[in-house]
Amino acid sequence: MASNRRIKVLIADDMVELRSNIRRMLGSQDSIQVIGEAGDGEEALRLAKEMHPHVILMDINMPKLDGLKVTEALAKEQPNIQVVMMSIQSEQEYFRRAMKAGAKDYLTKPFSSGDLSDTILGVFNKWLKDRPDLLEEESKAEILTFFATKGGVGRTTLATNLAISLAKRGKRTLLIDSSLQFGDVAITLNQNAGKNIYNIVEKEEEITPSKIEANITHHPSGLDLLLAPLEPAYADAVKTSHIKTIIETLSPAYQFIIFDTASQMGNNELQILDQTGLVLLVCTLEISSLKNTKLCLKTLSDIRFDIGKVKLVINKDISNVGISRKDIEEGLAIPIFSVVPMDYETAQTALNQGEPFVLKFPRSILAHAMEAMTDKILSSGVEVIEEEPAGAFLKLKKLIFGS
Ligand SMILES: Nc1ncnc2c1ncn2[C@@H]1O[C@H](COP(=O)(O)OP(=O)(O)OP(=O)(O)O)[C@@H](O)[C@H]1O
Ligand SMILES: [Mg+2]
Repeated sequence: MASNRRIKVLIADDMVELRSNIRRMLGSQDSIQVIGEAGDGEEALRLAKEMHPHVILMDINMPKLDGLKVTEALAKEQPNIQVVMMSIQSEQEYFRRAMKAGAKDYLTKPFSSGDLSDTILGVFNKWLKDRPDLLEEESKAEILTFFATKGGVGRTTLATNLAISLAKRGKRTLLIDSSLQFGDVAITLNQNAGKNIYNIVEKEEEITPSKIEANITHHPSGLDLLLAPLEPAYADAVKTSHIKTIIETLSPAYQFIIFDTASQMGNNELQILDQTGLVLLVCTLEISSLKNTKLCLKTLSDIRFDIGKVKLVINKDISNVGISRKDIEEGLAIPIFSVVPMDYETAQTALNQGEPFVLKFPRSILAHAMEAMTDKILSSGVEVIEEEPAGAFLKLKKLIFGS
């Protein structure tokens, strides 16, 4: 097992005390990480779907849905999750039924921390031996990058709010501020940027996973952050090879890595875009933004970048500016992934208070738009936004898109 790969464990038991005992017993195990706790069977099933643990420690007798039923459901719906049943001596007749339902091993309460970790490692390693391909697949974060070659279009706003929204839904998410000279993620989320990417790369020596981990900032929402250097003078120290190593090291630990970028197309940006699964190209309905977006797409296609990975996000959308979504989609020849409306007051208040609007103003139109974007990312569906009636934009359209 790679040094940075940890076995993700979910504890399902209605006894709070037992859950915290297990947490404590596993606390010293570097290779095992408790990612969540469920107090009843229904919660166990829901968290299993959301958090994708490798192993669930499952009590037999739980309210709402017992451990046997949860195990049966998981065997059908998520066969990659390894269930370890936990029960007291007098319930041992259930173990046979549990194994039949799909459990891989069992523990009789009370158990020692040695028994506990040996059992978890045992079922995990057996699974790893049987299906190494599955681990490889599930252990890579999906990388999303908010990109634009024009400043001020809303990359930081969208990246921070999307990242928080994913974290709120229990997804292990990391936001990396790769706007290395003037990164705004720290101030946008009201975080002290003492821990940042420069600390990882400043010395010539090799970058180690522990050095990277030590420089991750934990936001109260559950989101992890890798912040930009404190001053622009430090930005040059971060090289393409560093970015590659950081992504490769952190990828197994997260489900999503989101990049906020600078408005330029330098080596670091190209490295990030190369490693990105979905590039969200942000533009606004301003003529200069559309011109830049067109140029950006042309450059990407000139360097044979896979344009299929690039989707458009229209930010600060307002009606009656003479440009229709259809014009944009046709002119830029890439699909619109998402449209975020203009709401200056919400965006600005949230920004000035250092609290993203998905938390501060969850009922705002901006928060709704971000939730919809999150839904789409989680369902991986790229549906084309309904077109609007064509606008009276012909002259400018011709000028920019040349048609
Ligand atoms: N949908 C929106 N409605 C209204 N204002 C918005 C919206 N999105 C972003 N803004 C505002 O636009 C400004 C620029 O946003 P932001 O800093 O996110 O852009 P950026 O692309 O990251 O800029 P930079 O080039 O500085 O990195 C901010 O004041 C932000 O509050
Ligand atoms: Mg920014």
